Amino acid sequence: MRGIILAGGTGSRLRPITAVSSKQLLPVYDKPMVYYPLSVLMLAGIREILVISNPEYLDDFRQLLGDGSQLGIDIGYAPQDRPRGLADALRVGRDFIGDEQVALILGDNIFYGHALTEILRRERERLDGCTLFGYPVSDPERYGVATVDDAGRITSLEEKPARPRSNLAVTGLYLYDNEAVELAAELKPSERGELEITDLNRAFVEQGRARLVDLGRGSAWFDTGTHDSLMDASLFVQILAKRQGIRLACVEEVAFRMGFIDAGQLAVLGKGILDASASGYGAYLQDLAGV
Ligand code: DAU
Repeated sequence: MRGIILAGGTGSRLRPITAVSSKQLLPVYDKPMVYYPLSVLMLAGIREILVISNPEYLDDFRQLLGDGSQLGIDIGYAPQDRPRGLADALRVGRDFIGDEQVALILGDNIFYGHALTEILRRERERLDGCTLFGYPVSDPERYGVATVDDAGRITSLEEKPARPRSNLAVTGLYLYDNEAVELAAELKPSERGELEITDLNRAFVEQGRARLVDLGRGSAWFDTGTHDSLMDASLFVQILAKRQGIRLACVEEVAFRMGFIDAGQLAVLGKGILDASASGYGAYLQDLAGV
């Protein structure tokens, strides 16, 4: 399975902090936002990843993440010249996806849950059509909203409905069979001029091949589209770090735990950060590596 992080858009709701920077490079407590979706793809066992962003930001992402070899993965980059919609990611990433299945994740979505790795592994294996991940929220009208039958099959899907039929928001993580590439190529722009991910997902709903996995109470999900939600996400990450001493979405740690790099390579990454500064992040990596 290939992985795509969609990290473009205008970030207009976060002005002025996005005036000169990509939103997905803003800090969420102790690390850049893009680390969070990247760690989710890595936890799903995905090692070939494409980062899509606006042309003017691609070099910044490249400088931050490189070719991924330091994490034992491959990271490539592709421009989206204007925000044509979320489903455009499967058009931009068409050659990269090739004949494989694909996981698309939005660069501003943050997931946390102790069962997440197991859920991702299981859902990858049983994927047929598309699998979405739902999260119960108090303000579903801000999101894609799904209803499901007892077997977890999606029965309806609406984008930001004025009168939501359920409180299950569709999060920004989507697993697709390869045919999604063709379906995305055939999509027509919506009234607001975007290639809507919800339209793509509805094509699978109509075939009866769209599943929704409820992430439920044992997990946390944030999108960081507003100043308040960005702050909430940072506070959440800070609380876990202070209370439990764990660093959420530490990509170097994930690479180590997934067996993509060994303790020696992890120690080198920690030392690199420590040599440059007294950042506790470097010390954390060295601790993990047993140095
Ligand atoms: O966060 C989950 C929600 O994401 C889903 O519940 C909705 O169904 C889905 O449509 C989407 O809603 P948003 O209103 O959050 O989408 P937004 O237009 O804000 O785009 C999400 C992220 O993707 C944002 O960080 C910008 C980026 N983006 C957006 C577009 C339209 C791109 O990189 N390229 C694009 O063309």
